[in-house]
Amino acid sequence: MDQAGAHNYMGRLRVAVVGAGAAGLCAARHILSRPKAFDPPVVYELTDHVGGTWFYEERVGTYDNGLPVQSSMYRDLRTNLPKEVMMFPDFPFDSHLPSFISHLDVQQYLERYCESHDITPHLKFNTVVEEVKPISMETEEGGAVTWEVISRGMYGGHSTQTFDSVFICSGHYSVPHLPSIPGIEHFKGKVMHSHSYRSPEPFAHQSVVVLGAGASGVDISLELIQAKAKVTLSHNKPALQSSLPPEIQHAAPVVKVLENGSLQFQDGSVAQAQVLLLCTGYNFHYPFLCPKQLGLEVEHHLVAPLYKYLLPPAFPSIFFVGICKIICPFPHFDCQVQFALGVLEGTVQLPSSKVMAEEAEKERQRKTQKGVQVKHLLQMDSEQWAYYLDLATTAGFPPLQPVIQRLYEEVGKQRRACPQAYKHMNYRLVDATQWQLL
Ligand SMILES: Cc1cc2nc3c(=O)[nH]c(=O)nc-3n(C[C@H](O)[C@H](O)[C@H](O)COP(=O)(O)OP(=O)(O)OC[C@H]3O[C@@H](n4cnc5c(N)ncnc54)[C@H](O)[C@@H]3O)c2cc1C
Ligand SMILES: *[C@@H]1O[C@H](CO)[C@@H](O)[C@H](O)[C@H]1NC(C)=O
Repeated sequence: MDQAGAHNYMGRLRVAVVGAGAAGLCAARHILSRPKAFDPPVVYELTDHVGGTWFYEERVGTYDNGLPVQSSMYRDLRTNLPKEVMMFPDFPFDSHLPSFISHLDVQQYLERYCESHDITPHLKFNTVVEEVKPISMETEEGGAVTWEVISRGMYGGHSTQTFDSVFICSGHYSVPHLPSIPGIEHFKGKVMHSHSYRSPEPFAHQSVVVLGAGASGVDISLELIQAKAKVTLSHNKPALQSSLPPEIQHAAPVVKVLENGSLQFQDGSVAQAQVLLLCTGYNFHYPFLCPKQLGLEVEHHLVAPLYKYLLPPAFPSIFFVGICKIICPFPHFDCQVQFALGVLEGTVQLPSSKVMAEEAEKERQRKTQKGVQVKHLLQMDSEQWAYYLDLATTAGFPPLQPVIQRLYEEVGKQRRACPQAYKHMNYRLVDATQWQLL
């Protein structure tokens, strides 16, 4: 079938976008900017607002309609990237804001992005995508694929629409990853996941074991000690100890809970705690897809094989935007979306499905040989720059300015050296290659 699926349609291409978070809005923005090639998109959004992750929801658990709360945002979060790096390359944040901003600032930015690009009329709020499936069609050029999208409106019935392409922009920070901890039923305190953490005050003077020292584990530990909680951060990153304030105790990873309710750590030590806060990340979850049908495997921490971390080799007209981790999310979405639209328009010539599958496999081998664990295969970090450049060169759009990488690396250095203070810095982009400390 190759690219034929995207080209069989005589008129403009019809694209469905699942989700109106940053990725979905970015897809809509670029689709709308190419009216010759594309009909306006249909953007399905299960909540009644744009912004996804950035829409702070005080509630935890479920909405009134019974659906699980999507956002994992907490009240006092400040971004861990400066706004100069975080922004969509063609849409700066307000210049009066500091570099590290609140979730409300980001939410307002996304709303402004939506208005500036006239995306709002194309949003279908309160509408859950329940099924996305490829329908084979025979055409004169051979086999082709269209996509059936079945959605359910909160206040209406089901609807089925067909499209030439689908952008999956449903996010992957909504479904908690819960590690299996033997004996957890013996724990006498409260077990919760960072997905349901909102503010530190309820934990004042309590003993909290925070499991996991990723971005959330570290950030939430810092919030908790401010509120006078007794925090033990349980992890296997020894280098962190020296950079975090001494009020945070450190322990090896939790391995089990003893019958008397004590937590046991990997080094054999034990501790009691009133709260076990799991900062153990999130699982990929696509209840509206049949991965097997697309030739994909979806595991907790992996969607594979995807050509250029974006499309299944056998179905090059469905795009998974933003599944990579340790990236600059908005610039990343922007590059992926422009590349995907190039594929649909035909300005990007993809190799055959077979070659794309081989390339995805080669990429996986390369990482595996470097010792990358399966659960980290989608982490990019220092590899993201070459990836963006490759997408830009192949699809012929302007590459990210080098200053973005430079400032990202500088902030990474500051963050590692001083996790509690780096967000007080303010930066300014001077030109395409230089930044400046204010
Ligand atoms: C706690 C936290 C802190 C973060 N901090 C930063 C930061 O400082 N800087 C940064 O750049 N990034 C940060 N991120 C990453 C953040 O996830 C991205 O910036 C970005 O918001 C992801 O956008 P998205 O559109 O991919 O997903 P989301 O924002 O999750 O949006 C997905 C949307 O899809 C909708 N949806 C899902 N399923 C369906 C369905 N079946 N039908 C219809 N709609 C559906 C959801 O309701 C949601 O609106 C953080 C993430 C978290 C969780
Ligand atoms: C629970 O049992 C372990 C192992 O026997 C022991 O070290 C620990 O002190 C006990 N905790 C409590 C609260 O009794």
